[in-house]
Amino acid sequence: MQADVRSRISNELRQRFARAKNLLVMTGAGVSAESGVPTFRGGGQTAVWKGLPFEIISSAGMLERDLPAVWEWFNYRRGLLASLKPNPGHEAIARWQTLCGDLTLVTQNIDGLHQRAGSRNVIELHGNLWRGRCLDCGARHDLREFKFDKSVPVCFDCGGSLRPDVVLFGEMLPVGAFEAAAIKAESCELCFVIGTSAVVYPAASIPEIAHAAGAYLVEVNPETTPLSAICDEVLTGKAGEILPLFER
Ligand code: APR
Repeated sequence: MQADVRSRISNELRQRFARAKNLLVMTGAGVSAESGVPTFRGGGQTAVWKGLPFEIISSAGMLERDLPAVWEWFNYRRGLLASLKPNPGHEAIARWQTLCGDLTLVTQNIDGLHQRAGSRNVIELHGNLWRGRCLDCGARHDLREFKFDKSVPVCFDCGGSLRPDVVLFGEMLPVGAFEAAAIKAESCELCFVIGTSAVVYPAASIPEIAHAAGAYLVEVNPETTPLSAICDEVLTGKAGEILPLFER
């Protein structure tokens, strides 16, 4: 299998990767699939938590209606993730960051596995499951410092209630995150899109911006997505098997 995929990486892409000074990598849930993190699509509308579909329990409306229930759901998700580890896909991207001149990593994932693999300055478009944010003062806190004896954790700074520091359905992206990613997309020469169904906007517009600005666009995914048609190269397969094949 490796030899087959290796041969499918064009010489043009190998050369562009070898000489690229300005790379953008955008990832989605698929890059964490080989670590055991479930992906999203394909499960829409099926009950995921106490009879509530994912889109409801993870919504801004739910935050207003029942903050303790939202925490219960995110505590459950953190519990699932706590034992999972980065996979060769995450590790390859972290190595690229040390090898390549200027690599920006943009992720839709909230699992923190890129950072655990050693990636730095990750632009988190949808927040991070391991952080809480105060509803009163806006302070962000690392949840690993919290003992969850109360249903809603309290802000160390002001005593206000915390909410999960993730983007819920119906909410805007964190201030500056999308803008920083879009600026990078406009200037990069090579853009990898890895493990995303490319259907959730505005995140899915980042590779489109890179393509429109002339970047060489590469998709890594076992399935075709709406983005595949505009890519310069599509590598069909798993991130953990394909990304390690790109070494300088
Ligand atoms: N390697 C690469 N890609 C993979 C792998 C793998 N091992 N396994 C699955 N994939 C691909 C699937 O084919 C699919 O195209 O990853 C993609 C996962 O798509 P989604 O589940 O839709 O995840 P994502 O695109 O990240 O979703 C975007 O939607 O639900 C919201 O906020 C949530 O950040 C999420 C956003």
